[in-house]
Amino acid sequence: MTRVFSGIKPTGHLTLGNYLGAVRRWAAVDQYARDALFCVVDLHALTVEHDPARVRRLTRQAATLLLAAGLEPERCTLFVQSHVDEHARLSYLLECVATDGEARRMIQYKEKAAREREGGRSVRLSLLTYPVLMAADILAHGADEVPVGEDQQQHVELTRALATRFNQRYGHVFTVPVATRPGVAARVMDLQDPRSKMGKSGGAGAGVVHLLDEPEVVRRKVMRAVTDSGTEVVHDPEGRPGVSNLLEILAACGTAEPADPVALAGAYGSYGALKRDTADAVVEALRPVRERHREWAADPGGVDEVLRRGAERARAVARPTVDAAYRAVGLLPAV
Ligand code: TYM
Repeated sequence: MTRVFSGIKPTGHLTLGNYLGAVRRWAAVDQYARDALFCVVDLHALTVEHDPARVRRLTRQAATLLLAAGLEPERCTLFVQSHVDEHARLSYLLECVATDGEARRMIQYKEKAAREREGGRSVRLSLLTYPVLMAADILAHGADEVPVGEDQQQHVELTRALATRFNQRYGHVFTVPVATRPGVAARVMDLQDPRSKMGKSGGAGAGVVHLLDEPEVVRRKVMRAVTDSGTEVVHDPEGRPGVSNLLEILAACGTAEPADPVALAGAYGSYGALKRDTADAVVEALRPVRERHREWAADPGGVDEVLRRGAERARAVARPTVDAAYRAVGLLPAV
């Protein structure tokens, strides 16, 4: 059976971008059709200055939200990265396969490192090695597919390169995975700044829709979205990023099978009508998440139990592959 692995960082409230780009597919498709593992990747939250208590709180919150988004513990494996040592164990071996140049070419590294320097902070070494840890996450579990949004594509490409190089050098150990991404809304943009990605660390931003935003809040954010000069509704992400973003969101939220944003554009004569329908569609898409969240949030012991069982299964999946990698590179097995 095809195996799927994906992860989410506990660095802020989950956003509509996370949902449409990744999480919704995990719940709607991957957990039914695949052997699926999903991970709250807490180690990745330590690559920039962090507050320990906040990371702990956001880790449990992300797990609760993934359950609220529809992950079913009987159908998939949900766990926390730091509960499974194999990720960090494998990461070091992959650092011995990756090159410094390769890591420095990662777009997210360049952007985030620049942000740290601008803020007068030093750049943690883990920010540079982060994509190698991500490769370890994926390869430890022998994933065939990695369902992610567009911004993670380059990291999955690096993962493929490392797996291929390792296998060539030391013998076949790793499955070479492919990234899968949604047909629409693979990169949801900030509603106030449609040339930037909608991100968790967008703060209280009026341009970021969070999964648990109340319907009125969602409506207000969508109705106030920055649109472009001009009045015609067309799908043109380069020239008209604001309107195109709304069309993508509407296409992704409007029906079970994403509609085509280009075709949708023809149905609208004004920005106002497009915003109203988009706001309604987002509110409806998030309604079941809010409802299920009430139940899971009332049962933190239940969430902990899901994570405990998830970690147990994930360890059992990853251990043999990581052990095989240790042997393959020449490390003497412990007796
Ligand atoms: P993270 O936590 O930033 O995002 C989680 C998932 O949400 C997607 N996403 C988006 N999709 C569309 N539009 C957006 N605006 C948007 N923002 C986020 C991301 O593409 C991702 O799929 N490095 C990863 C976490 C990770 C991981 C892994 C993922 C660590 N190890 C192994 C897959 C496999 C990250 O920072 O995702």
